[in-house]
Amino acid sequence: MSVKSCQQLHPLDSLATEAKVITLLDKMTLDEKIGQLSQLSGDGGQVSKELRKAIKQGQVGSIINEVDLDTINELQRIAIKESRLGIPLLIGRDVIHGFNTIFPIPLAQAASWSPEIVEQCAQISAIEASNSGINWTFAPMIDIARDPRWGRIAESLGEDPYLCKTLAKSMVKGFQGEYLSNTNSIAACAKHFAGYGASEGGKDYNTTNIAENELRNVYLPPFKAIADTGVATFMASFSDLNGVPATGNDWLLSDVLRDEWRYSGPVISDWEAVPQLVTHGFAFDKSDAANKAFTAGVDIEMASNCYLSYLTSLVSNNTIAIKKIDDSVKRVLTLKFKLGLFESATTLPNNQNNAMNLQHLSIAKNAATKSCVLLKNDNQILPLSKLAITNLAVIGPLADDGYEQMGTWAFDGKAHQSHTCLNALHAYAKDSFKIHHAVGLETSRSNHNDGFYEAIAIAKNADVALMVLGEEAILSGEAHCRANIDLPGAQEDLIDEIHKTGTPIVLVIMAGRPLTLEKIIAKVDAILFVWHPGTMAGPAIADLVFGAESPSGKLPVTFPRSVGQIPLYYAQKNSGRPPSEDKYLALNSIPVRAPQTSFGMAATYLDIHFSPLFAFGYGLSYSQFGYTNIKVMNKLITIGSFVEISVTVSNIGNFTAEEVVQLYIRDLVGSVTRPIKELKGFQRIKLAKGKSTEVKFKLHTDELAFYNRHMECKAEAGHFNVWIGGDSNATLQAEFEVTDEK
Ligand code: GLC
Repeated sequence: MSVKSCQQLHPLDSLATEAKVITLLDKMTLDEKIGQLSQLSGDGGQVSKELRKAIKQGQVGSIINEVDLDTINELQRIAIKESRLGIPLLIGRDVIHGFNTIFPIPLAQAASWSPEIVEQCAQISAIEASNSGINWTFAPMIDIARDPRWGRIAESLGEDPYLCKTLAKSMVKGFQGEYLSNTNSIAACAKHFAGYGASEGGKDYNTTNIAENELRNVYLPPFKAIADTGVATFMASFSDLNGVPATGNDWLLSDVLRDEWRYSGPVISDWEAVPQLVTHGFAFDKSDAANKAFTAGVDIEMASNCYLSYLTSLVSNNTIAIKKIDDSVKRVLTLKFKLGLFESATTLPNNQNNAMNLQHLSIAKNAATKSCVLLKNDNQILPLSKLAITNLAVIGPLADDGYEQMGTWAFDGKAHQSHTCLNALHAYAKDSFKIHHAVGLETSRSNHNDGFYEAIAIAKNADVALMVLGEEAILSGEAHCRANIDLPGAQEDLIDEIHKTGTPIVLVIMAGRPLTLEKIIAKVDAILFVWHPGTMAGPAIADLVFGAESPSGKLPVTFPRSVGQIPLYYAQKNSGRPPSEDKYLALNSIPVRAPQTSFGMAATYLDIHFSPLFAFGYGLSYSQFGYTNIKVMNKLITIGSFVEISVTVSNIGNFTAEEVVQLYIRDLVGSVTRPIKELKGFQRIKLAKGKSTEVKFKLHTDELAFYNRHMECKAEAGHFNVWIGGDSNATLQAEFEVTDEK
């Protein structure tokens, strides 16, 4: 699905805008220019004397974290009416997965494998945010995340560059619309540039050491993709990238972003990341930090005041050239013109109550429904039938918690506006069956079991125990990393106790990351992994549990068996001694005093199987899908052309359902080693039971290109395997060859 790039500006307006920017720039003092490069934090619904004064003096270019419409309009009024040049403000906010209406967390949206859904969620987020005066969001977060210990995996679009870049383009399109000047468009922000997801040990803000080849082949592609399709801004990462913090990394922010990619939008630092260059041990003091960040390519400083404090003197003593200041200010002013702020920066209050209307809630429910992943369904216990149930036990601390279900980065959602699982089940049951509810544990981290007794009692008298467990929202997101990714607290014990009652268990898991579930998986009959589904969690889960719709989500990230397996992702390199079943078996039965160089010499562990618990792309349905008749139309293609591959998909089950058909390739030999599988296409299809359809993919050799050892991005001649199936373990295989002979 090609996502039209966001023009940002009507083409004819580009020249006019450039002229307006130059005209305005020529009037500005150095202090006023530096003011545009400063983002200050709002005062939470009021305008402090200091902020009012700073705006009047032209010392502020943008505000972060003000969401009160009247206050924002007052801030804009001060900037426009009381400052010397009347330059309006950018108003930034982390509208990550919703504003009033909270959509599933980004990792959940990625599990929908639906660019359309991702675009819809972003578009509604932009409508609701812009109706509150916000004109800039710090999203999409497109850090490739392959370590579920890292709390920010919740904000990511998963482990795979192709899925991430495809969905990121749609998210930007949703936020920015066709033109930034459209009423409900807001500027998007590609973050965190770059490689933040590789933080060592999955610890947030930690060091990242990424070989340039890996950086360019894995971590940069999503950023390049949305730089090319018009994302309005970038945000530099907190993290130390190969010894040079991203915030001060001129190779990244200038050589790559500006010179190679020709990107022209403003770059903002992360929160107080400029002075943190001193903490990194990369800058001597805040003046040095200001110099290094600005010189590297950070245009706007977020929340701290190194630029305000030191840029003037750095220019005066010729450390920084005024031309560089002018270039940054031009980028900021150009964005403000593109957003139409000089024409109208005031937001009328009449649309605010349009938030959370039925259409928004309907889209939020659909997004939640399509992002839930069915991981287990023994004996087809799901979907439940309301006719077959007299008593349903609903157990767990997350069954009726409108706050936790919204997940991380849901700043502006309101818990009381959430529709919880318990609410929705009551609405669904009406009088057809009885619902008995017990939390079992007060919170997801509780370790005391005094609530178990009530939970056990209702389970004993129930036909099914529906357990809603997982992680509170605060256990993922920024700075919230976990060394142990089991179900927190005493939840596993609670499952044990309910399992002992003999009542079948349907386990619904809310979480911001993959969890290690091997210890409980045998004790439950079904697992529906719903991530943090947002405002409409309840109706979505009720629809899925009772079969109004079949689950169709697919994992955007690998689920390890053990935290010790991390990093574990599907697109691994083969190594010279890849793991295999026979090697695993040999390793698993090593006799005492076996000779040193014996048994299963492979890239794996002695004490656990090398496979994940659930693979990237995995997700069950209430139906079953058969894949047959894979065909490559043109088995020999030249570089610069397309290979066309088709497959027949059949719904061989008893349920009309959607399936995400996935296409993977392997470049068998490259000038640098290539992954054993790479996602290069997917299509979400709906099939009635008993029906079949042909699904076609058209793959240009550009999609086969990768950075070689000379850092040239090229497709290479050679042989390729191609697989199509319902997850990354797809086995239906064909081959094709690429030649560079014309
Ligand atoms: C935070 C995050 C960043 C966010 C910014 C503003 O520290 O790293 O993603 O956009 O600050 O809240």
